[in-house]
Parts: sequence; C-alpha cells; structure tokens
Amino acid sequence: MRIDIITVVPELLTSPLNESILKRAQESGHAEIYVHNLRDYTTDNRRTVDDYPFGGEAGMVMKCEPVFRCIEKLKSERDYDEIIFTSPDGITYNQHEANRLSLMKNIIILCGHYKGIDYRIREHLITREISIGDYVLTGGELAACVIADSVVRIIPGAIGDEASALTDCFQDNLLAPPVYTRPAEFNGWKVPDVLLSGNFAEIEKWQEEMAYARTKELRPDLLEE
Ligand code: ADE
Repeated sequence: MRIDIITVVPELLTSPLNESILKRAQESGHAEIYVHNLRDYTTDNRRTVDDYPFGGEAGMVMKCEPVFRCIEKLKSERDYDEIIFTSPDGITYNQHEANRLSLMKNIIILCGHYKGIDYRIREHLITREISIGDYVLTGGELAACVIADSVVRIIPGAIGDEASALTDCFQDNLLAPPVYTRPAEFNGWKVPDVLLSGNFAEIEKWQEEMAYARTKELRPDLLEE
C-alpha cells in the first residue's frame, strides 16, 4: 500500500512515520509512505500556501493552486482509491474506516491547516473527509499520523504476528480483554488463575467474557452498533 501525505509542516510527520511498526512495514515493503511539502508546489518567491478569506473573516485559508498542482501531479503518476482531507468536520474516524482504508492500494492524505482550505478543493478533489475526534488540532498532521499508523499496522503481514492485529480492541466491536506478564504475583497483586492454568479453552472463554464485560461497562454504545 502507498500513502502520500501532503502537508505544510513535513517535520511534524518525520518521527511518527519512521519508527516502530511503520518503519518496519516500510522496510519490509508492506507500505510506502511519502511526505510532500506543499510549499514545493508554489510558484512565487515567498512560497505562499495561504491567503486572506473572501468575506473578510479572521484567519488564513489554504490556497487552491499548490494543492491542485500537487494532487494532479500524483494523480498523473498512478490511480488513487481515496483522497482524504483531515478536518474536524469530517466523518469520525474508527476501526471500521481503518480496516476499509487498509485494503486500498494508493491513498492521498491532505493535511488541513490554518482556518481551512478553499472549499473548491474539497468539492472537486477530495473524496473523503476524516476527523479523528470532536476537538480542534492545530493542523491535520497529527490526524494523518493517526490514520497512517492505524492503517499500516493492519496491512496483512505488516505486523509480523497477523493474529495480533485481528485481536485488537474494536475488531468485532469489543474492547480487548486485560493482558498480564510475569511475575505472576507483584506487590501482592495476582494474575487471574485461569491464565496460569494452561487450559486454552478456558483461557479463551475467560478472554471473551472479559472483553464483553469491559465493553458493556466502558463502551456500551459499541454493543448497540
Ligand atoms: N484538524 C484539526 N482538528 C482535526 C481533527 N479533530 N481531526 C482531523 N483533522 C483535524
């Protein structure tokens, strides 16, 4: 899978995209992630990417031309399954959407910034608008990292232990059961006996019950879906 991220602050993406699972997924060829600096697609000496809004409100608006140039260049090189814009007024991101995106071959993520983006870009170029929650970030870069991370880790083979991605929280609309590691007793706090029993059928049953109980207590809305 290939992900092209368009941003005015490429530095914000460098570390999150180049460590841990994302780094390994790129090294093993499961994912290709490219970051494009929007300023490289400007034509003026000051590399302007924003301008004052028509109508005279406060704040700056991202201009059409550099975004158009960058997206058109990418589209001339390959077909894209989805061109995403990160914005607080997009659809709320969840595991279902991550699963859907992970099946795609090529996607673009355009990071929003400033007061917003010239609406013509959203009308004519963007195919999906995604919010990572009902709060406002300084820009869409962190949202792009969240999307890239959550998508790449579930590409088949990317994580090594595929079963591990499938047993994640939210797959099946259930929260994950509690996990423990050695020592079996720490500070007087004991690991549940069943996990030490070696009886895998019992362990699986316990994990399912715990996943259901935690979901019912903490996220009953997931059970209603
Ligand atoms: N840009 C600013 N806030 C955002 C949010 N909550 N989700 C996605 N992009 C954003």
